[in-house]
Amino acid sequence: MPFTPDSALTLLFDAALLPPSLNEKLAQHSLHMRPLASSDYARGHIAVLASLTSVADPGEAKWRERFAALAAARGGASPYFVVVIVSKDTDELVATGTVFLEPKFLRNLATAAHIEDIAVDTRMQGKGLGKVLIEGLTALGEQCGAYKTLLDCSEENVLFYNKCGYETKGVYMAKYK
Ligand code: ACO
Repeated sequence: MPFTPDSALTLLFDAALLPPSLNEKLAQHSLHMRPLASSDYARGHIAVLASLTSVADPGEAKWRERFAALAAARGGASPYFVVVIVSKDTDELVATGTVFLEPKFLRNLATAAHIEDIAVDTRMQGKGLGKVLIEGLTALGEQCGAYKTLLDCSEENVLFYNKCGYETKGVYMAKYK
């Protein structure tokens, strides 16, 4: 499929929030970082997420409903930013990740950012895409005013996040229903 430029897509948020320097780096490898687009179901968004965990495919109609809900959250000023890296050769997604903002009462009404759902296509891992993605998501959160960015991960990914400038703080806990 020919590459679709940002101008021909309905994007989840303003692409100007992503640092342009990262796309200069990615362009050398025929890759492009941008916000999730309303048509990215067809570019393999769910398939890329499958490299992270077991993903039940909701189907395109439900996927589009979720996209619309995220885009409309907080009256169009959504605090949810899903970012993708797309191959310019195939127009398919090769990586995705999310950062969302948490408005706080403490620290004089500060904002924290949380990174979630980082996934690089298994065929594209180990080429530096994960690091560029984390750099983009962190910069995006900070651009939106976050004073810190938090994430949790498995033991095996600690070194990866260390290489992205993150350090271990506290203990990660979860309760699944
Ligand atoms: N252990 C140790 N070092 C690692 C690991 C690892 N598991 N993964 C990457 N690195 C190192 C690389 O060697 C590289 O080092 P260098 O800069 O010295 O050359 C550096 O980290 C950057 O590596 P990338 O090539 O950018 O990593 P990649 O593109 O493969 O992305 C990721 C890493 C996101 C973990 C990817 O392998 C992946 O999608 N894995 C499956 C899904 C997953 O585990 N996602 C993270 C869940 S946690 C969350 O969502 C908050």
